[in-house]
Amino acid sequence: MSGEHKGGLEDVVVSTSDVCFIDGDEGRLVYRGYDVNELVEHSSFEEVVYLLWHGGLPSRKELDAHRKALAATANRKLPPKLLGILRALPKRTSPMEVLRTGVSALSAFDPDAADNSREATLRKSIRLTARLPTLVAAWERIRRGKAPVAPNPRLGLAANFLATLSGTRPSPLAVKTFDVGLILHADHEFNASTFAARVTAATMSDVHSAITSAIGALKGPLHGGANEQVMRMVERIGTPARAEGWIRQALADKARIMGFGHRVYRVEDPRAKHLRRLATELGRQTGDTSDVEILDIVARIVSGDKRLFPNVDFYSGAAYASMGIPTDQFTPVFAMSRVAGWTAHVLEQHANNRLIRPRSDYTGPTHLAYVPLDRR
Ligand code: SDX
Repeated sequence: MSGEHKGGLEDVVVSTSDVCFIDGDEGRLVYRGYDVNELVEHSSFEEVVYLLWHGGLPSRKELDAHRKALAATANRKLPPKLLGILRALPKRTSPMEVLRTGVSALSAFDPDAADNSREATLRKSIRLTARLPTLVAAWERIRRGKAPVAPNPRLGLAANFLATLSGTRPSPLAVKTFDVGLILHADHEFNASTFAARVTAATMSDVHSAITSAIGALKGPLHGGANEQVMRMVERIGTPARAEGWIRQALADKARIMGFGHRVYRVEDPRAKHLRRLATELGRQTGDTSDVEILDIVARIVSGDKRLFPNVDFYSGAAYASMGIPTDQFTPVFAMSRVAGWTAHVLEQHANNRLIRPRSDYTGPTHLAYVPLDRR
């Protein structure tokens, strides 16, 4: 089995898929054939969820039914006993640990938990996509000693999340910005968390188990956890005037700069420019553009010095911070969107499944003689 390999499954093609295409050289991202730039301009997150699950754009009737299912209180609200589990957790528990725990526990309350048919998995995917925002917002309220805000079935997913997180009605710009952020994070081919979901689904395990695996993978700072680390860097830099000195020192120290680089993109991540625009627009609305100014200085220097480009995680935090979303909630917000892609990939894996079981290039010994304890 010995042979040259780069590690990390770099450039290894695992299987075919119709869900998402990334052109790493051209910097293109395509969901079921539609360029993400088109979807950002014309679509909504709810419509993108339908596209990812069903493989085509919905008719008006199909979209209305889909939106209604995602907004229904029965699908959004959390089982009361699950809220009891959240209240039993220490207040210092990180939001990603809460999300991982909450999603896993949700299967115990799901009537379709034991059914892996496409129809049942679609019903569970609707409930998961509708409930993750409620889980994230409920924890924010509970850890602040406040009662969770009930979901409003008259609001779309973006508006309802922002309203239940803060307890106040969000601005139209914040809703539009957040909806675009959800579209941009919805899927990304076989990234680490999606691949974790597919490996789990490939054992014919259920969608709740697959999404729990995915959340565990997304939590890592080399993956979804980078957006939180980028904002920690901005907080440490403090002001635009300090940005150049700080980042030059970090590069001199050979530090890994969060929000830069990508396993697939060889040019700028096509999502970054949209997130930078949204962060700038929101910063202007709130009257504070210092985060984006700091990020722009860092990007100019890192791209110039290291030929590394901003990825999706570089500007997203600045946009979310402008909407009042706490820094340690950035990765859960990423998960609220990516659950659409994760569930789409689970559906695709189940529909044409083969157990995913790679080999290792074993480099250890193979014929050692056992040595009794009294002779070691
Ligand atoms: C996401 O896969 C996806 O699609 C993920 C994602 C999605 O939508 O699902 O796009 C979301 O996870 C985006 C990435 C978020 N992570 C970060 O921003 C963390 C910082 N980035 C890096 O750790 C890194 O760029 C990765 C993890 C994203 C990619 O790593 P690779 O492909 O394993 O590359 P590598 O670590 O082997 O680095 C190659 C070279 C190294 O230099 P040498 O040791 O060869 O001299 O590039 C350097 C690295 O040191 N490098 C960096 C760097 N990223 C790569 N140097 C400094 N800072 C960085 N961020």
